[in-house]
Amino acid sequence: MTILLNANVESDLAQAVQLLRGGKLVAVPTETVYGLAADARQPEAVRAIFTAKQRPDHHPLIVHLGDMAQLDDWALRIPTSAWELAKQFWPGPLTLVLEKRHSVHGVITGGKNTIALRMPAHPALLNLLRYGDLSLAAPSANPHKHLSPTSAAHVMATMGGKLAAVLDGGECVLGIESTIVDLTGDEPRVLRSGPITPTQLAETLGCPVACPLQHSIAVPGNMPEHYRPRTPLRLKTAQEIQQDANYPVARMLLTLNADRENFSFALTRVMPSDKPSYARLLYRALYEADQLNVREIWVELPPSTEEWSDVADRLMRASRS
Ligand code: TXA
Ligand code: MG
Repeated sequence: MTILLNANVESDLAQAVQLLRGGKLVAVPTETVYGLAADARQPEAVRAIFTAKQRPDHHPLIVHLGDMAQLDDWALRIPTSAWELAKQFWPGPLTLVLEKRHSVHGVITGGKNTIALRMPAHPALLNLLRYGDLSLAAPSANPHKHLSPTSAAHVMATMGGKLAAVLDGGECVLGIESTIVDLTGDEPRVLRSGPITPTQLAETLGCPVACPLQHSIAVPGNMPEHYRPRTPLRLKTAQEIQQDANYPVARMLLTLNADRENFSFALTRVMPSDKPSYARLLYRALYEADQLNVREIWVELPPSTEEWSDVADRLMRASRS
């Protein structure tokens, strides 16, 4: 059985710490998405994450820290750029990939010699990490390849029964996974786009930041199948939506344009036009679409600016061509 704990109740937070210290799995709130956490110092506990998620064991995890100084516990030969980025963006939605210490167990890093580290900004999680004296290995708390959860209810519905507890810390304020930047090469390289943009990273570092994984909208078929709702998702231009709006199939529409509300979709959700609000609601909207049992989810293409690149990236991965 999976128990529901309240992150605002001190005794519940203490219970989460006890469960984690005892090697159990606890879903925890972060500012990005909910994480499926285990004590990063207990390889057996970390192994259980892979079983619960049915995640392939070569797929490495992020370790969540409560204090910047703990970078030294996990990483070796830490470049100045890592400290600069941590000072600027932590606690926050930025994950740093660094050379791992030899002592770090391969179960966390999927056998790689690098490790991904971040300090999350959710206040209850920070308390748990700091006062529980824990470092937590945590992927997003969803079954492998499915949508990341942005609420405790979403975790319960998809992972309930597979973990000891879910710590409810409310809706995630950012709603999209952290930016991942690899600092082990000659130049910093973004491995996953997220709330912190390459421009912000470059401004802090004063050097160029590579983002070779920025795919063009033209090739959604190239994307690895990740972050997918169960219902087929189709990315559509405004013109395609207008042309096909009255086609009699049960479909949900996510749009940025209120004018589309009188089209004959089973449900039309007009999304906020500012990126942070859109991102915050995106997974929730896709999750709701799955509950509706519509045949397809149509999503209007977001703007193709750098600010929207994390949303565009997740939508392309979610779409089926
Ligand atoms: O916002 C987030 O990052 C959320 C919250 C829970 O912190 N976590 C998250 O974890 O999205 P996950 O496991 O769903 O995605 C972690 C990504 C994976 O794509 C993994 O390949 C990459 O991080 N990663 C982890 N360690 C790595 C490493 N050593 N080198 C390269 N990529 C790594
Ligand atoms: Mg994930």
